[in-house]
Amino acid sequence: MTGGTDPYGTMAGYYDLLHTGTGSPALIAFFAGLVPEGGHALEIGPGTGRMTLAVARRAATVHCLESSPAMRALLLAKLAGRPEFRDRVTVLGATAPDFRFGRRFDYVYLSAVLEHIPPPSRRAFFARLAEHLAPDGLLAMDMVDDEPVPDQPEREVRAARQGECRYTRSTAVWPQGPDLAGIRHVYRTYIGGVLALTETVEGEHHFHRPPDVLADLRAVGLTGTSGAEAGPLGDKGTLIARRG
Ligand SMILES: C[S@@+](CC[C@H](N)C(=O)[O-])C[C@H]1O[C@@H](n2cnc3c(N)ncnc32)[C@H](O)[C@@H]1O
Repeated sequence: MTGGTDPYGTMAGYYDLLHTGTGSPALIAFFAGLVPEGGHALEIGPGTGRMTLAVARRAATVHCLESSPAMRALLLAKLAGRPEFRDRVTVLGATAPDFRFGRRFDYVYLSAVLEHIPPPSRRAFFARLAEHLAPDGLLAMDMVDDEPVPDQPEREVRAARQGECRYTRSTAVWPQGPDLAGIRHVYRTYIGGVLALTETVEGEHHFHRPPDVLADLRAVGLTGTSGAEAGPLGDKGTLIARRG
């Protein structure tokens, strides 16, 4: 994504208002429902903490690796208002797979992150996650599906009010290859019905196909279950994997 050195620099402030939709509670329930009660969790790319807070309610600890300084700052600000998580949620700036904890976790998960991982880098990414998974640990992700690469002209997909401002997000998506789309988000701020600010962010969205993902997981010693078999949210491309 464009937006200065931090690809989420512009998007961060709009994420909770304009990037989470009606499917969000079910997806949060999916990720939070898989954490073993009292287990230790590792989250890759927590963003503003959409999943983090729900997982932290059940987990003993959550370690978060977030590459975007802007997203990390929002998560830390959110956590600052939740003293109950002060000792249990750790937030670190790092980009997977460039990290090593020297310990294993009962639950490793990533939500809406695979879009940033090019398929040729996926196996190495999974290998590092597998290194951090306890012998009976669980890995969960979404965005593994057979959806064709969309070709959608710009259209308004979300709108929200805050005080006297109305914010909108319009998004365009276009194919750049069989598993790659270009994506552009345009954020508009209106006050009194008058357009006051327009901000544009462009980036890429990588697509991950179930047979290829399952093969990469097998190559690093994990067995995955994808789609509807992984849970009720097959349309979200959910996948869970275990050792073996
Ligand atoms: C679309 S947001 C999703 C945020 C959150 N997981 C959610 O579901 O709301 C993707 C997040 O993953 C982070 N991210 C992307 N690739 C990453 C990587 N390789 N390592 C760590 N964080 C990453 C981005 O900075 C961003 O905050």
